[in-house]
Amino acid sequence: MSSKSVAVVGVTGAVGQEMLDVLETRDFPLSSIRPLASERSAGKTVQFKGEDLPIEVLGQDSFSGIDLALFSAGASISREYAPLAVDSGAVVVDNSSAFRMDPEIPLVVPEVNSGAIAGHQGIIANPNCSTIIMVVALQPIQELSPLTRIVVSTYQAASGAGAKGMDALRRELAGEQLDDSPFPHRLAGNLVPRIDVVQDDGYTKEELKMTLETRKIMGLGQVPISATCVRVPVERAHSESIQVSTESPLDISAIREAFEKAPGLQVIDDPHDDRYPTPLQAADQDDVFVGRLRQHPDEAATYDLWVVGDQIRKGAALNTIQIAEEL
Ligand SMILES: NC(=O)c1ccc[n+]([C@@H]2O[C@H](COP(=O)([O-])OP(=O)(O)OC[C@H]3O[C@@H](n4cnc5c(N)ncnc54)[C@H](OP(=O)(O)O)[C@@H]3O)[C@@H](O)[C@H]2O)c1
Repeated sequence: MSSKSVAVVGVTGAVGQEMLDVLETRDFPLSSIRPLASERSAGKTVQFKGEDLPIEVLGQDSFSGIDLALFSAGASISREYAPLAVDSGAVVVDNSSAFRMDPEIPLVVPEVNSGAIAGHQGIIANPNCSTIIMVVALQPIQELSPLTRIVVSTYQAASGAGAKGMDALRRELAGEQLDDSPFPHRLAGNLVPRIDVVQDDGYTKEELKMTLETRKIMGLGQVPISATCVRVPVERAHSESIQVSTESPLDISAIREAFEKAPGLQVIDDPHDDRYPTPLQAADQDDVFVGRLRQHPDEAATYDLWVVGDQIRKGAALNTIQIAEEL
């Protein structure tokens, strides 16, 4: 890889900070790095490779001389600035929901559909975090027999709501009553079964993202997918209970073997010995973890599994940088 000049938009956020860490630990070939955030961060610095780098305020001219722009500052910022970055000659990898369902824009999880990157016209979209974690685990099954139905319930960490989500949970756990929480109810000691905006049909936008994005990434057409997304008082790493059906019944050992060979996936599955993935164990890890694999007792072509992944890392920053590496 030749060295690239890289801009990180939203560098002070949960995902932006993780991007710096991933760029550093994977030794991404950088000729320069430009940390960008809002006016609130003017005068502040971020640490990268032991140096304090001054944060620049995002503006129209932020992308001159930039080869690669990694966006992680929300959909409205991406809609406004990603086209400017492309006009300046940069390739954009965008973490927000702004472009994911645009049929002209590739939506990529490298373990599943890295081939889609080749068709990009300047912007590549990084999927929703819960979707990334789910498709890494479903792809090995899809390669054995086409998927015909997916039902998923998520257990999503506070940090999925960004730095302010993590901060709110910590303060609640320390006994504070908050009036500035990003969550609709107290999260400490609780579960909140509503993430993002509720649609007319009762599903939330987060649930809709899991359905539509999974179909686009895996090429599933109109395969029925239904999600229930729940916020849980866990700091970091999302967990998912997934029930999936295939066209032909598969031997459970064949699925386990496919999981063991799959890139980016680790099997932890010995429940008699209390070995299964947990969010604490998945936090800060690159891989997605799968366990509790079972064949449905009444339907041979239906399987239940438990999947956990660090949504700031594989669900956002790492996936973005893997896309950049593929580029
Ligand atoms: N958290 C996750 O698990 C996760 C996973 C996948 C995808 N994502 C997506 O990634 C994006 C960022 O999420 P996050 O969790 O990192 O959020 P966050 O912690 O709240 O960080 C938001 C970042 O955006 C910057 N920003 C906000 N308004 C801006 C503006 N007007 N101009 C320039 N920068 C601005 C903030 O800078 P200041 O500090 O200067 O305000 C901060 O760096 C969102 O689109 C989110 O949906 C998040």
